[in-house]
Amino acid sequence: MTKKIPLLIDTDPGVDDALALLMAFSDPGHQLVGLTIAAGNVGLEHTVRNALKLCEVAGREDVPIYAGCADPLLHPAADAAYVHGRDGFGDIGYTPASRTAETEHAALAILRLSHEHAGELLLVALGPLTNIALALKLDPTLPQRIKRFVVMGGAVSAHGNITAAAEFNIAFDPEAAHIVFLAFPHIDLADWEAVIAHGFLHVEAEQWLQADSPRARFYERISLQTRHWSADRRGDHWHSADALAMAYALQPEGALELLERPVAVEMAGTLTRGATVVDWNRQEGRPDNATLLMRYDQARFEGLIRAALAAT
Ligand code: RIB
Ligand code: CA
Repeated sequence: MTKKIPLLIDTDPGVDDALALLMAFSDPGHQLVGLTIAAGNVGLEHTVRNALKLCEVAGREDVPIYAGCADPLLHPAADAAYVHGRDGFGDIGYTPASRTAETEHAALAILRLSHEHAGELLLVALGPLTNIALALKLDPTLPQRIKRFVVMGGAVSAHGNITAAAEFNIAFDPEAAHIVFLAFPHIDLADWEAVIAHGFLHVEAEQWLQADSPRARFYERISLQTRHWSADRRGDHWHSADALAMAYALQPEGALELLERPVAVEMAGTLTRGATVVDWNRQEGRPDNATLLMRYDQARFEGLIRAALAAT
């Protein structure tokens, strides 16, 4: 029997994070060893509560949850409550889970789990990179023990979603992102532009949400507000950034086009702070430190979402 790949997810749940987590919960090839929680979409208190609740709904209270940093490393940043709801889960007023998070800090949990699964760990970052940057500052050897590192973040041609040039996860904590992109020799990057290229119809998603499962019923409720927001602003297709990143993480064989390039994070630009700057012509002599997801098998992607919602 093939050994499962140990999977650690750093996340700021958030509605699209929740879909990605549901995908991970039901993947047979991976052993989810923990969730480390970031602030981002909404404040840390909410993102931790949301992670605990989602695990309860999905019957995955075996997954340990570790709270991380409540703020970016250096400069304060605005949340995305306007997309996800004030509580990050559509403000449905759910009954909080009875379970609480572990006492160990996320950064310390990342380091400990990297040793426990040294050389095998798949690390997936779905939120701002604050916890991972802090872990790197505590132990710069962390990348040596990570087998594969997938990041949802950035905008490879500066088509941002939070500013003209920057994507939310990177722009929320550019200093953290800079530390992470400098430290890891290789990052598999699912950026915002890839997300926009892999939208799915709202009307189809609404069908998937009718699945007869507690997960689908809960997700239908917490996603209602952001689905309305998306339809108002982006038309008939819905986009789930973290779900695409998770599809790439769980089933990399679904990637149809990948490009290797040097990527760095802008921290100082007046208009470009938080931008992921790709050296497309390799003019600056830096190594290719990122694999850019350009195209993913859309049918496979949508199939993974459907299966995640329908799982019981
Ligand atoms: O820009 C999209 C990303 O920012 C997603 O991960 C979303 O959940 C937010 O964290
Ligand atoms: Ca996220």
